[in-house]
Amino acid sequence: MVSASGSVPTPDPSHPAAPAPPAPQTAPVPAERLRKVAAGILHALGAPAPYADQTAALLVEADLRGVDSHGTHLLGLYASRIRAGHLHPAAAPRVVRDGGATLLLDGGLGLGQVAGLEAVRLLVDRTRRHGVAAVAVREGTHLGALAAYTERAARAGVVCLCFQNGPTLVPPHGGLTPLFSTNPLSYAVPAHEEPPVVYDVATTAVAGNKLLLARKRGDATIPDGWANDTRGRPTTDPAAASVDHLRWFGGHKGFGLAVLVELLAGALTGSCFGATEDTASPAHGRERVAKGFVFLGLDPERFLPGGGFAARVDTLVREIRASEPADGVDRVLVPGQLEHERRAVREAEGIPLPDALREEINQYAAELGAPGLD
Ligand SMILES: NC(=O)c1ccc[n+]([C@@H]2O[C@H](COP(=O)([O-])OP(=O)(O)OC[C@H]3O[C@@H](n4cnc5c(N)ncnc54)[C@H](O)[C@@H]3O)[C@@H](O)[C@H]2O)c1
Repeated sequence: MVSASGSVPTPDPSHPAAPAPPAPQTAPVPAERLRKVAAGILHALGAPAPYADQTAALLVEADLRGVDSHGTHLLGLYASRIRAGHLHPAAAPRVVRDGGATLLLDGGLGLGQVAGLEAVRLLVDRTRRHGVAAVAVREGTHLGALAAYTERAARAGVVCLCFQNGPTLVPPHGGLTPLFSTNPLSYAVPAHEEPPVVYDVATTAVAGNKLLLARKRGDATIPDGWANDTRGRPTTDPAAASVDHLRWFGGHKGFGLAVLVELLAGALTGSCFGATEDTASPAHGRERVAKGFVFLGLDPERFLPGGGFAARVDTLVREIRASEPADGVDRVLVPGQLEHERRAVREAEGIPLPDALREEINQYAAELGAPGLD
């Protein structure tokens, strides 16, 4: 029997929503322990303790939700960027422009999680005051999994959308010139008795490392729709498919959303966008670390006071879950459901870290004189 998640044609093992593929692993690690070790490493790399704690908490939260590619696996990337001087772990986000319902922050090329959490805190506050609000961030760096931010706003009663852009890796639909990142977008909507609805995806069909993995495994073919060859022609041949020519999910439809992400998260925030490099960072093009984010908030109480909207969200969530599954599908899912379920399991049983990641974390800890996992 194919699970409901298995029936979705946008799998991406670099940030999987379905259970991670089997990888060699030792005993699961309790979330609290992983959080402390990750925070110790970030602190030793120069992040003030509160920033190290915030960033570690969000990385472990992604691990708990099963979005392993955006969990503590990212510590290595952050460490290399900090050591190269491209990410400034002590930089504090600052307000550049305050229009009441609108705010522009500068992340100072600091930890993306620190700027992202500050942006969402301000978004919730301003949305409650004004009914709608927008918080934009320029000179941000990697946010991790976007759901961390939108879900926080939703749990505070605010409908939230978040967009983030990044380096020039992916060409426009039908083109060959790299101009975009995988341009993720997320929304979260508060419910009453049900958990919030949380949608969080890249706008490309698949990440480059899924293709690299298929090649490494010696797969004869890759699924149609993942990638083009170097001349932009669709291919299912892993050798001909190019990691620089990933395809957008839904073709021109996913591409259209990626353009919106680029325009709002990049152009509107005064950040880099397309080939335009508005950043103090020396890392450009496909190596670009500077990213722009935008968060949009809406207070449902302004439309249906007394929790009327949240109750209606519950109704729809239950209707989706109760709908009859198609042939070959176990159950119908609401966006965010898999991650909420996996979080409950991993909070109780611990996080199953692959051996290689456990070793990597222990190695960083040893190098930096911080406590490790073992
Ligand atoms: N910060 C960055 O630079 C960056 C870039 C790209 C992606 N990402 C992150 O990668 C993560 C995963 O992205 P992805 O594109 O691989 O996601 P994905 O294709 O795995 O889809 C995940 C989303 O789809 C929902 N979903 C899955 N199966 C479903 C079903 N059967 N029915 C209804 N909903 C279902 C999940 O609840 C989740 O919201 C996200 O957290 C994203 O923010 C981050």
